[in-house]
Amino acid sequence: MGDPHPTAPSPAPPPTAPTLRAQALTRSFGRGAKALIALGPVDLTIAPGEFTCLVGPSGCGKSTLLRITAGLLRPSAGQLSLHAASPRPAAMIFQDYGIYDWKTVLANVRFGLDIQRVPRREADARARDWLARMGLSEFAGAYPATLSGGMRQRVAIARALTVEPEILLMDEPFAALDAQLRTILQDELLDLTQTTRTTTLFVTHSLEEAIVLGDRVLVMSARPGRIIAERRPPFTRPRTGDVRSAPEFTALKSELWELLRGEVRREAVPA
Ligand SMILES: Nc1ncnc2c1ncn2[C@@H]1O[C@H](COP(=O)(O)OP(=O)(O)OP(=O)(O)O)[C@@H](O)[C@H]1O
Ligand SMILES: [Mg+2]
Repeated sequence: MGDPHPTAPSPAPPPTAPTLRAQALTRSFGRGAKALIALGPVDLTIAPGEFTCLVGPSGCGKSTLLRITAGLLRPSAGQLSLHAASPRPAAMIFQDYGIYDWKTVLANVRFGLDIQRVPRREADARARDWLARMGLSEFAGAYPATLSGGMRQRVAIARALTVEPEILLMDEPFAALDAQLRTILQDELLDLTQTTRTTTLFVTHSLEEAIVLGDRVLVMSARPGRIIAERRPPFTRPRTGDVRSAPEFTALKSELWELLRGEVRREAVPA
């Protein structure tokens, strides 16, 4: 079997349409007088390859927005369009790892491929490849209970990336980790996403994390969460964790906190 176009340039041109567009997206829970408006209206456009961070007060609807994007929840009103080539374009990573304790590390990482009925040999090879990239090769046969928190979260990341998602949805993935480990995983994720250019929507409570990782940081209001501000960290790509010590970093962090502070207070002490 020969390549019919041996001299054709191989990489596809980047798609020009946005990967994701939300228009007047809202979500309520419950009905009638007891209905709770959790989210929106949210308008949001994410371009291919963009890394977008969402920050906002607790309970403002960040996870709800991610779950709608993942197709796990329907919006109550508004529209979500995903410009994607595959029927399952998104992979989600949760704060609590979401890995199975009764499966080995390799089986956990292979899980998404098993669901897609990828043949075992290929699935094993792809899973081992991602385990190697995450520095977990020697733990392929181990069970998650024997791993540290950081290693478990690496397993979760490897599992999400093994399916080569078009969109990566991360819901406070590093929240349960200590500060040092969190910094290390942020730097690893920075490296990884700058290589793969996977379109990513990343929820965090940490402004530092949002500034280090994001092309954009979106600030959400108190519930029902709307997007009230957008900032672009002024660092070129590829960037490294060194941006943490830049004066612009500290300045942007203060600015974002000013924007967020009122919303956090509004959530804590409703009018
Ligand atoms: N399945 C559900 N049924 C009823 N209410 C829900 C449900 N899921 C979320 N909510 C409510 O919707 C609101 C938004 O929840 P969501 O989990 O999206 O917030 P969040 O921004 O992710 O908060 P946090 O930062 O604490 O994770 C909250 O008031 C929550 O109680
Ligand atoms: Mg949440």
